[in-house]
Amino acid sequence: MALKNTKYRFGSITKFFHWFMAALIMFMLISGIYVAQFSDPGLFRFLALVWHKNIGVVILILVIMRYIARIMQQSPALPPSPIGFARTIHWLSLCVHYAIYALMVAQPITGILTSSAAGVPINVMKLFIIPVLITPSEQSFLLFKLIHSYCAYGLIGLLFVHICGALTHQFIHKDYVLKRMLPFVKVDIPEERAEEIEQNNTIERN
Ligand code: HEM
Ligand code: HEM
Repeated sequence: MALKNTKYRFGSITKFFHWFMAALIMFMLISGIYVAQFSDPGLFRFLALVWHKNIGVVILILVIMRYIARIMQQSPALPPSPIGFARTIHWLSLCVHYAIYALMVAQPITGILTSSAAGVPINVMKLFIIPVLITPSEQSFLLFKLIHSYCAYGLIGLLFVHICGALTHQFIHKDYVLKRMLPFVKVDIPEERAEEIEQNNTIERN
């Protein structure tokens, strides 16, 4: 499997970032909601918050690496839309992707600021410490916590649209959009074959 994207396929770097970060973000949403809903001072909640913060900072580093990897290679073309309005639909899907990227950056930053506003430095995996970045106060704590939770619910909404879009491609349009993002799945892309045939100036036999 190629490491980099090609004109019609995702390479393994993109797939790795996509599915590894999808799993981390699911963990973040579940652990964040758990910590916010339960205010008991127990060990489980404490550990959930520690891991929420640690993995949140890792996500910030990963999203920067992912974005650099994205702009250093081409993005595979989307197939023609079976319901028309192809330009609008492709543009909308791009907007959703960019909005998800924006929130993958905004979430860790507002999380770090929430911790700073509470006067708590973050010891990331015992490797380095993010110090308190702003003057702690209850007002700024509540403000950043509110922004952090609004961004989280925005992210949940966008992911819902994103996943519905992927499933629509798979089960309604029955095309290759979801399959080509899955790891270890062989997928036939008609446009790619057409291009190859044209390039080799030959005819398709089957
Ligand atoms: C937390 C969960 C997820 C996040 C944060 C996420 C984020 C993203 C982002 C940012 C892209 C754009 C990639 C790029 O061009 O750089 C993308 C593409 C994609 N995602 Fe997800 N995703 C998630 C879950 C899922 C799930 C569960 C599915 C399948 C049901 C899925 C299917 C796809 C597909 C098929 C593409 C490629 C679309 C295309 O061809 O342009 N994603 N995802
Ligand atoms: C992609 C990254 C992140 C996601 C998706 C995420 C998600 C969430 C969610 C869903 C909540 C619950 C919101 C609510 O219902 O009010 C939450 C709360 C919180 N998050 Fe995050 N978060 C992320 C990163 C971070 C980071 C990096 C930190 C700090 C270093 C952080 C610190 C907090 C804190 C302190 C709370 C409030 C807990 C409480 O109510 O006491 N988050 N987060």
